[in-house]
Amino acid sequence: MNKDNPGTPLLEVKELEFSYGEVKVLHGLDFQINKKTIACVMGRNGVGKTTLMRNLVGLEKPSAGSIFFKGKEITNTEGYSRASSGFGYVPQGRQIFPLLTVEENLSVALSAAGIDQQTIPTSVYDTFPVLYDMRKRRGGDLSGGQQQQLAIGRALSTRPEVLILDEPTEGIQPNIITMIGEVIRRLVEENDMTILLVEQYVDFVKEYADEFLVMNRGLFVSKGTVDQLDTLTINKHLSI
Ligand SMILES: Nc1ncnc2c1ncn2[C@@H]1O[C@H](COP(=O)(O)OP(=O)(O)O)[C@@H](O)[C@H]1O
Ligand SMILES: [Mg+2]
Repeated sequence: MNKDNPGTPLLEVKELEFSYGEVKVLHGLDFQINKKTIACVMGRNGVGKTTLMRNLVGLEKPSAGSIFFKGKEITNTEGYSRASSGFGYVPQGRQIFPLLTVEENLSVALSAAGIDQQTIPTSVYDTFPVLYDMRKRRGGDLSGGQQQQLAIGRALSTRPEVLILDEPTEGIQPNIITMIGEVIRRLVEENDMTILLVEQYVDFVKEYADEFLVMNRGLFVSKGTVDQLDTLTINKHLSI
């Protein structure tokens, strides 16, 4: 539920389709996420998870179907306008700028979203103190776990209402994985944020998410609350 339109999902997708050229990758996806929920998209490599996230944040345009944010259709709006209107995105593989400093990486996100106020919110450094300690260092000098914190910090710098993270635990050490899980839970509980996560690590989903969506070949084949995530579904659709 959100305060603007009680009863309206924060994010809603209807019959979403997408093709790369002639190759159809998303075959008609439907889902909704309510405010203050952590939903997780799971599925094997190549099924279309990243393509879905890129459509949601406006980096790709659907070939059919629609996307609604707080009840308003945004299907054809540009990526920068979604960033300034409440979407935060942590892409797969982090994609930080290796030659820019940590501080510059964070400011770039504010400019890209067209936000005039160029000050990095202190909450970003409060959430990830290592980014403050390393603010003058180049992004490329950070460890993988620190780069992931930078990628999440960068997405948080625009104070999003919905945060989309694509495989944030990929190639990350267990202690940082735990930290990321705790951070996202806190963002939901303390900042009323809504989170959509792509994640293949089942234990992480069970520990931190509320709802799951399993994707196979561009379709959702199973959905539910995480307590309904059973071994049969996991073995059938996830690479274990
Ligand atoms: N830029 C692209 N051009 C053409 N095909 C692509 C492109 N990106 C991904 N694909 C293809 O689309 C399918 C879905 O990819 P992707 O969304 O990255 O899957 P996932 O994130 O689930 O691993 C795959 O078959 C992949 O090869
Ligand atoms: Mg992917």
